[in-house]
Amino acid sequence: MLQLRGISKSFHDGESDLQVLRDVDLSMAAGSSIALLGASGSGKSTLLQIAAGLETPDQGEVKVLGHPLRSLGERRLALLRRQHLGFVFQQFNLLPGLKVIDNVLFQRRLNRLPDDDDWTAELYAVLELEPLLDRPVEVLSGGQQQRVAIARALAHRPELVFADEPTGNLHDTLSLQIMELLARLVDESGCSLLLVTHSRRMAAFARRRLLLEAGALHAQD
Ligand SMILES: Nc1ncnc2c1ncn2[C@@H]1O[C@H](COP(=O)(O)OP(=O)(O)OP(=O)(O)O)[C@@H](O)[C@H]1O
Ligand SMILES: [Mg+2]
Repeated sequence: MLQLRGISKSFHDGESDLQVLRDVDLSMAAGSSIALLGASGSGKSTLLQIAAGLETPDQGEVKVLGHPLRSLGERRLALLRRQHLGFVFQQFNLLPGLKVIDNVLFQRRLNRLPDDDDWTAELYAVLELEPLLDRPVEVLSGGQQQRVAIARALAHRPELVFADEPTGNLHDTLSLQIMELLARLVDESGCSLLLVTHSRRMAAFARRRLLLEAGALHAQD
């Protein structure tokens, strides 16, 4: 489903050189889930973005659903992301100028799925989105935007979900409901989940926990 091999990534600003990832390997089978832990600035978001083809590594290979991303080309990469990947961004990245419902259904519509089915109904219920659907995303609170971002990432039933601190702004009860929803998606539809979280409680929902430290991944339990 997802394979990272020998991934390295550095950032250079001005004089300084920062190596964020050093020769990282990671493999995920269908129906698996990983919680990625690590200090602020350790490179968790960078790793997720590389795995999702949103950022290119300096070295190493990323394969998603058997496709090496480097040789895919922009168009096929965009199509692969649109059809098979879901991404909950740490900063949400909602589409301004669109209502909540149009944000949530954006990828579904590109994939020519119907606006409504049991899955969208369940997402709206669990994420408590019904009252927000017709509002512009600009006026939402942080927690509301986060719920929209989660619905948007899951609405097209992706096979591989990347979620960067998806419950960081939400209260405990709702966070648990969202983690249960994600865990069920993994169990029932064979979706794979790579989740960044600072919360031990959220991390407990994943089958494996990995710590990113000094650019390398370590098993954590
Ligand atoms: N585009 C960029 N240009 C320069 N430096 C960057 C860029 N993206 C990330 N970095 C740096 O790489 C390091 C890792 O950033 P990253 O966002 O991956 O950390 P993180 O583990 O997700 O942190 P947090 O828990 O705070 O979200 C940081 O020091 C950050 O400043
Ligand atoms: Mg981050």
